[in-house]
Amino acid sequence: MRERLVAGNWKMHGSLAGNPALIEAIKAGAARQAGVECAICVPFPYLAQAAGLLQGTEVALGAQNASEHAQGAFTGEVSAAMLADFGCRYVLVGHSERRQLYGEGDGQVAGKFAAVLAAGMTPVLCVGETLEERDAGRTEATVARQLDAVLAKSGRGAFATAVVAYEPVWAIGTGRTASPGEAQAVHAFLRQRVLAETRILYGGSVKPGNAEALFAQRDVDGGLIGGAALVAADFLAILAAAARRKE
Ligand code: 13P
Repeated sequence: MRERLVAGNWKMHGSLAGNPALIEAIKAGAARQAGVECAICVPFPYLAQAAGLLQGTEVALGAQNASEHAQGAFTGEVSAAMLADFGCRYVLVGHSERRQLYGEGDGQVAGKFAAVLAAGMTPVLCVGETLEERDAGRTEATVARQLDAVLAKSGRGAFATAVVAYEPVWAIGTGRTASPGEAQAVHAFLRQRVLAETRILYGGSVKPGNAEALFAQRDVDGGLIGGAALVAADFLAILAAAARRKE
């Protein structure tokens, strides 16, 4: 059985003064949800703070990006080994905002994925099509291309531990979510390319009101949550929806 995972992607939100209240609330609520792993992916400057607050709890720490390089003259970059130093278990790679706003290509994303694995952490590979690609009938071709670049570099076996997150770009931050059926169709397509045990998360406007129906889908193993991860009650309600999923 695949353990469900609900991960919060804080994106560029948070503050040193405000983070403890959110993290304490998540810690308290997450402890009650058996069978669901919970993670929060915080901005780099807050890793130390979050690591301290999460110490001794079941809530995992994650980061949102990592360099494909091990070390060197790469001003402004953060290596996977540095993230491991702070106790990160998960690292997002290839988030659509990185691909779209910062020009990350499939090859670079594959390099980041390999670097995260080499540092002993679990990459969460984000894939997803734009609205234009969906309308042109290119959803499967797009996510296949994004995934295949990683498979070519790290192999299928890497997905015994690595996580995939399907995030349709048109559903991110728009309030428009994929229907459970639309999500399941893409998850099932992705599943054929990875492993039976690979966890495939859905992301894109997941809210307390739509989480249960999404998580009820056979190949949806949890969620990658943006905006709703910044509101403790919403994030915990989504976690509870994952815990209610029947096998
Ligand atoms: P929203 O949940 O805000 O749509 O963001 C999804 C996302 O990009 C998570 O990585």
